[in-house]
Amino acid sequence: MVQVNADYLKLKAGYLFPEISRRIQDFNSKNHNADLIRLGIGDVTEPLPLACREAMKRAIEEMGTESGFRGYGPEQGYLWLRESISKNDYLSRGCEISADEIFVSDGSKCDSSNILDILGKNNKIAVTDPVYPVYVDTNVMTGRTGEANANGEYLGLNYIPINSENNFEAQIPKEKFDLIYLCFPNNPTGAVATKEQLTSWVEYAKNNNALILFDAAYEAFIKDDSLPHSIYEIEGAKDCAIEFRSFSKNAGFTGTRCAFTVIPKSLKGKAGQEEVDLWSLWNRRQSTKFNGVSYIVQRGAEAVYSKEGQIQIEKLVGFYMDNAQIIKENLTSAGFEVFGANNAPYAWIKTPEKMSSWDFFDFLLEKANVVGTPGSGFGAAGEGYFRLSAFNSRANVEKAMQRIVEL
Ligand code: MLT
Repeated sequence: MVQVNADYLKLKAGYLFPEISRRIQDFNSKNHNADLIRLGIGDVTEPLPLACREAMKRAIEEMGTESGFRGYGPEQGYLWLRESISKNDYLSRGCEISADEIFVSDGSKCDSSNILDILGKNNKIAVTDPVYPVYVDTNVMTGRTGEANANGEYLGLNYIPINSENNFEAQIPKEKFDLIYLCFPNNPTGAVATKEQLTSWVEYAKNNNALILFDAAYEAFIKDDSLPHSIYEIEGAKDCAIEFRSFSKNAGFTGTRCAFTVIPKSLKGKAGQEEVDLWSLWNRRQSTKFNGVSYIVQRGAEAVYSKEGQIQIEKLVGFYMDNAQIIKENLTSAGFEVFGANNAPYAWIKTPEKMSSWDFFDFLLEKANVVGTPGSGFGAAGEGYFRLSAFNSRANVEKAMQRIVEL
């Protein structure tokens, strides 16, 4: 009989969001007419921007002509999209990131997992707690951890707690780690990093020869002009950080799929004593395992940077951020302690009366028919917290708030 990857058996029950879906299905099977409002998974709800749709329609028509038809595209993404990203997301903010340091992909979730392909097995890894579960689970799946303890913490992974006592700010470790996952604006807490905080992380990484995996999928939601959108706004970051970005949340591409990863050419790692550049390894990995994002979708993503696209995206992000404010204001006035939601589409809420995260999940599901995400699903330090996402229609967000406030 074939042997399986036994590392999968170390994983806890199920990936968080499928587990939530399972509980919802169970609830629905007993409550046929319930009007459920989903503020759980951070999935967008508003239509794709017109500029993106028009660009995709044009691309489809092109593909229907002899001269405009395209087969396999470049595995790294079409140069016109990479140049647009470089110019609009990086050069415009003073970051010297060139088009060929940008790799277009079908998602940040995939990239932040696949990156482990080019990294050694014996790195000392640190994640925050709570954390986006993908970072942890993919380390487990690839045999980089031991078993989980009773708290669900995996042996071999190092957890940096973020909680209300440290203002949801991960403290710079005293220990030396080789690989650190950071996510700002943070999923799940909605916390943001200042320039000073990111500078401390870059200094730490440089002093310890560490690599930072920086997930900036939610950067579009930063409203405070003093906050950095990219880790490359910090001097020296090109020597110690990889950045993940996405069109999922700013342009509503969760179903359309387009993202990108930045691997600066100056980034180095070691194979034994030999110095190797990470760009070449990732390029090799992508060329072998990936055939690129469809031409049509890349044209849609390019339109994000057009004049109309920028206006439409600002409106879209503003819409979700107004939702975030509605959540924050309503719950705060109802007596909840609410964090985040100012520069991020997530509100991180302390559960009332020391209720456990899953108990509060069940309570809201049963009593208000509102779905959120239990904080403990993001790690042991998320216990006692609950995440509500701002991704839904205005009517649903208002209705959900009314139901919770009236409980
Ligand atoms: C979430 O709810 O945390 C997001 O959907 C994560 C993701 O984008 O994969």
